[in-house]
Amino acid sequence: MKKFLDLISEEMKQAFEASGYDRELGKVTLSNRPDLCEYQCNGAMAGAKLYKKAPLMIAQDVAEKCKDSKAFSSVEAVPPGFLNLKVKESFVTDYLTKMCHEPKFGLEMPENPSRIIVDYGGPNVAKPLHVGHLRSAVIGESIKRIARYAGHDVIGDIHLGDWGLQMGLIITELKERQPDLLYFDDTYQGDYPKEAPFTISELEEIYPTASNKSKEDPAYKERAMEATFKLQSGVRGYRALWDHIISVSVADLKKNYQDLNVDFDLWKGESDVHDVIPGMVDYMKKEGYAYISDGALVVDVKEETDTKEIPPCMILKSDGASLYNTTDLATIMERMREYHPDRMIYLTDKRQELYFEQVFRCARKTKLVEPETDLLHIGFGTMNGKDGKPFKTREGGVMRLEILIKEINDEMYRKITDNRQVDEEEARQTAKVVALSAIKYGDLSNQASKDYIFDIDKFTSFEGDTGPYILYTIVRIKSILNKIKEQGGTLEGAVLRQADSDAEKALMLEMAGFNAMMETAYQESAPHKICAYIFELANAFNRFYHETKIVAEENEEKKSGWVALLLLTRDILETCIDVLGFAAPERM
Ligand code: ARG
Repeated sequence: MKKFLDLISEEMKQAFEASGYDRELGKVTLSNRPDLCEYQCNGAMAGAKLYKKAPLMIAQDVAEKCKDSKAFSSVEAVPPGFLNLKVKESFVTDYLTKMCHEPKFGLEMPENPSRIIVDYGGPNVAKPLHVGHLRSAVIGESIKRIARYAGHDVIGDIHLGDWGLQMGLIITELKERQPDLLYFDDTYQGDYPKEAPFTISELEEIYPTASNKSKEDPAYKERAMEATFKLQSGVRGYRALWDHIISVSVADLKKNYQDLNVDFDLWKGESDVHDVIPGMVDYMKKEGYAYISDGALVVDVKEETDTKEIPPCMILKSDGASLYNTTDLATIMERMREYHPDRMIYLTDKRQELYFEQVFRCARKTKLVEPETDLLHIGFGTMNGKDGKPFKTREGGVMRLEILIKEINDEMYRKITDNRQVDEEEARQTAKVVALSAIKYGDLSNQASKDYIFDIDKFTSFEGDTGPYILYTIVRIKSILNKIKEQGGTLEGAVLRQADSDAEKALMLEMAGFNAMMETAYQESAPHKICAYIFELANAFNRFYHETKIVAEENEEKKSGWVALLLLTRDILETCIDVLGFAAPERM
């Protein structure tokens, strides 16, 4: 279905054409003087130069032609030559009615959907998730859902860090502690136990211990490197131990991501491409892309137009070991083979920008991807504390994600139960749902590339540009609808009517912009545009609500029109928050 702005632009274009001017001048935009008009067209200003005519005269000609317009109730030519526009109430109602009957409120679906892989989350196994992992998960999940809603075929892949030195470190530390474990007996031929010889909490303590030891003790580090090598070359006991590390860790990760309402289609990791690497390396050598420099195997990726130095992409270290790059490139190769995506989107901290530039260039140069395959890195900024420095615990340590979520849940619970008699269990449940909106909206409402301040007080507030405010608005709508039902009214068959008041019309116009907004959010991979939209929409609804006695209205037809309006507002808001990755409770 055509976008609302395009539809009214089309009318304006016809008016320009009918007055003998270039139709392209008739582009309509939202008004930047909402006190004067709803939309505006500045085409006459641009036309003045073209036709050597006063802009006001052009605007007047065009306004004259709009007298019988289907769309506009008022077209005013104002000095120096702007066209101030208001649309007809009936026109908006017709548009919204059509939106209600179309799938996805009339958002146009692509003729050829793209296959998109979103690489996000990216946790490292055996390490607890901390706040640094929050943004990748939250933004990535939303980007995935937006693309899916926009009609594309989207696969989310967690891309676990499950293969490097960290694995060797854990194995080494385990061996220090329990040298007699079956896994370290080279002569053992039988099956290994199904139970892991450690719990997740032990695992989470083992890694930092090992990591610290390796920094202080070169011999220890040497052993860890050897363990990594043994693991990667397939030593049975090491593999079996690694399997335990992965399954214990993944079970815990799944729980954590579930709490965030984040879910992945693929739980692949760096280890999955281990066997792809030798073939890729041979290919890069054979085709002459890769060469040895200081013992390492590298591919040059600098380009003539570079204004800054882009170092070569290292494929293998001088000891023949693979690196972070190597697994990413092999993963690209594997993804092309297995899924043939049109696009791959990566979400990481923006400090990895140069890294991805190198990897993408290398993938293009070595033809691991098609010329038209789109590779996109979305680098996000840092989540800071109120002091403007990277978010820490009160003691100054790295905050575990679980703890952060718990703190927000508790704060939300406190707010919900403040001065009220509530059912404890229900309140806990509601607090969780609302807390998630606070966290996600707080993050997503910022442009991803910017740093932002994680402000618990602000994010959990029911007022202002926050998740809880949006949920509060949705719950308010639900409760009005419930009241109407309790009074014996029905929600079935409600039909939209023409707006009675400015507030009602403003709400309707806000909703008419849904599909254009969603299209932009997809094209620009910009969840913050959805946040900005629902904030405006919620404001428009609340203005209307405060002015209108909906439940007490006696004119049944009018009331039914409002029911239809409420249903549409609720549905659009709930669609938007679902795409952002959170939900609204029934009550709060
Ligand atoms: N595990 C990595 C890290 O902790 C993030 C992975 C991001 N994704 C990727 N394909 N490189 O930094």
